Amino acid sequence: MTLVLSVIGTGYLGATHAACMSSLGFNVIGVDTDASKIALLAQGQLPFYEPGLEELLQQELASGRLTFSTDFSMLADADVHFICVGTPQKENSLAADLSYVEGSLAALAPHLKPGSLVVGKSTVPVGTAQKLTDILASSAPQADLAWNPEFLREGFAIEDTLRPNRLVVGVTNDRAEEILREVYAPVLELGTPWIRADLPTAELVKVAANSFLATKISFINAMAEICEAAGGDVTVLAKAIGYDPRIGNRFLQAGIGFGGGCLPKDIRAFMARAEELGAKQALEFLREIDAINLRARTRVIDLVRSLLAQDLSSYTIAVLGAAFKPESDDVRDSPALDIAAQLHAAGAKVTVHDPKAMHAAKKRFPALGFAQSVEECLAGADLVLHLTEWREYRELDTAHLKTLVKTPIVIDGRNALDRDTWIKGGWDFHALGRKSL
Ligand code: UDX
Repeated sequence: MTLVLSVIGTGYLGATHAACMSSLGFNVIGVDTDASKIALLAQGQLPFYEPGLEELLQQELASGRLTFSTDFSMLADADVHFICVGTPQKENSLAADLSYVEGSLAALAPHLKPGSLVVGKSTVPVGTAQKLTDILASSAPQADLAWNPEFLREGFAIEDTLRPNRLVVGVTNDRAEEILREVYAPVLELGTPWIRADLPTAELVKVAANSFLATKISFINAMAEICEAAGGDVTVLAKAIGYDPRIGNRFLQAGIGFGGGCLPKDIRAFMARAEELGAKQALEFLREIDAINLRARTRVIDLVRSLLAQDLSSYTIAVLGAAFKPESDDVRDSPALDIAAQLHAAGAKVTVHDPKAMHAAKKRFPALGFAQSVEECLAGADLVLHLTEWREYRELDTAHLKTLVKTPIVIDGRNALDRDTWIKGGWDFHALGRKSL
């Protein structure tokens, strides 16, 4: 008989996982304590933007395999329960807040049937899975626990779930692995590498991967600083080192750095956990990675000041992009929005445009100006900042835009615009880690 699955927590991770598992043919029930989120999902609407996911959600709801509820007792029939709730950074520390993970296990425990498997997917500090195993041993000894970290990127969530580049399962026995192999059978048939690990290793794989990615980005941003000091060009440097397959050319895009709901909080929580484990020194370098990343934001603001004036209060600045990256409406720890807010706090009149993240950005920083179109955003601007590399910003008519602004100065904070096109359009073009021509 086909396994019945449940997904607890229906944010980016959970909503994607639920719809994708349903598309593999399983009956899936998604549960969340947020009634408004569940109501939206049950009607086939996503509370966030993710390419292709709303269509998949509607298709799976129509198939009858996918349902949503706020009632945990509805989970009683499920054989496998995926915990997909958030683990945000705590208010007053670098550590992760585990209250949603612990809360969902407590709500789930009374409904677990004998032989069922609880599978953690949330990103947690190493040691959490063992702690939850101990809790389960006393509250629901009839069930077992495994850890199956998720590596999905926003903007590619479906692809990364159905065609991941690896599947990692942390288990304590063969039966748990067999169940997970059954769940992921269609994905394994594609030749996806399968890695069985113990619980702490499975938890660590996720934070190690995100730390490596963050390090790669901060490395190239450190090189951008050096290029600026020495008169070099970081985009050429990145291309040249990227041809070495040991280095690789991905994640070497210099600019205003990383943000979002994962990388920043994951490296901080990893440092906090290392300290608890008595291994603080091993991750000291992540403090520098974080510092380089935040410095990229300051460097853009310094560049704005050097091009306009120290006192920005009489200047109008147009900001293209608010999301932490393109193909997303997520503004959590977005470098783009942070820079916009800092310029506003420094007295500038800031107007923001983003193809998808306007609503979220407005909610976060209502005091900023928001424009419905690029033209409206640029009207009368003293300087234009390109901070999220949406495709449409690469296809702009630069000569036409020049006629809208007060002074044609642009800073490419993502090294994604074509410099020649902007210079030909009459713009004074600047970018991080590159000489201004
Ligand atoms: C990340 C991981 O990639 C994913 O595997 C994990 O599961 C969750 O965290 P995500 O947060 O969706 O995914 O975004 P990602 O594509 O990794 O980008 C993170 C940030 O780094 C963005 O702000 C992006 O603009 C920035 N970035 C990325 C760079 O500044 N330069 C690069 O070369 C690449």
